[in-house]
Amino acid sequence: MQKPLLWVTFHLPQELLEPIKSYVDVKMWQDPEFDMPQDEFEAAAQEADILWTVVSNRVTADVIKRAPKLKMIANLAVGYNNIDTEAATEAGIIVTNTPDVLADTTADLAFLLMMMAARRTLEGARALYQGQWKGWQVLGMTGMDIHHKTLGIIGMGTIGELVAKRATGFDMNVIYHNRHEKPNAYGAQYRSKEDLLREADFIIVLTPLTPATRNLITKEELALMKKSAMLINVARGGIVNEDDLYEALIKGDILAAASDVFVEEPVPTKHPLLTLANFTALPHLGSATVETRLGMVSRNVESLLAYFNKHSIPFRVV
Ligand code: GLV
Repeated sequence: MQKPLLWVTFHLPQELLEPIKSYVDVKMWQDPEFDMPQDEFEAAAQEADILWTVVSNRVTADVIKRAPKLKMIANLAVGYNNIDTEAATEAGIIVTNTPDVLADTTADLAFLLMMMAARRTLEGARALYQGQWKGWQVLGMTGMDIHHKTLGIIGMGTIGELVAKRATGFDMNVIYHNRHEKPNAYGAQYRSKEDLLREADFIIVLTPLTPATRNLITKEELALMKKSAMLINVARGGIVNEDDLYEALIKGDILAAASDVFVEEPVPTKHPLLTLANFTALPHLGSATVETRLGMVSRNVESLLAYFNKHSIPFRVV
């Protein structure tokens, strides 16, 4: 009997396919350095029974319409805004993700980015590497303390709670905004979005990207923040309006910002944000540790094995 075709749309070391390879024929994107271009991804989707995707693959309603055999998508991420889940549901396609396993790692990176912005570490390192570091001065390259300051977390899911937990160890006062209140979030206090924007010294954005959260932070929200405040996005590009953020940083409406995520990924080449000294950028490294990436692969493998063996499917989002 012919086996289903699994299209792995990113480069995966062969040994990680071991647990599933007897169930499927496999095609894989072979370039470990560059993401699969969208047109090649769409061609893969047209012939696949199962897609193993990453967030750069856009599974739109149109892609789904032109994928007659597709029955399952395993997405190697906790976020699944790259997939039109409504269209998938309508077409009877199962979608799975990788929850929880990356939460601590992403919380670490959120904290790292906040500290990088606060202590101007990218600016300092850049000056040193580029031969522009002239010497120690009393107020040279001085940043801002994070201890005893107020951290505002927008989006209090698992990662948000773990950021709050870390912040308590740094003697920060933590406030948060979320769709519903979380009474046990390491002492973090609920605030309306507006109050949080006004009170916080540092704001970390951690909501999923949905129609409701697209442009959650625009010039209006930035105008409410303290002039000394810093904004950190480790969630998804598009939640913070990049053009408005650029303007706010140029005009001094806020002091600094940092982001691990961009509207244009993998390389936000065209955005002038990357030219600003008070902006720290990372290339979507939130979950990028060996342990966590292997854990994410395991989550997807668990879902795929359950599908092949007709068991109830763990980590299913639709
Ligand atoms: C990464 O961005 C993820 O959603 O897992």
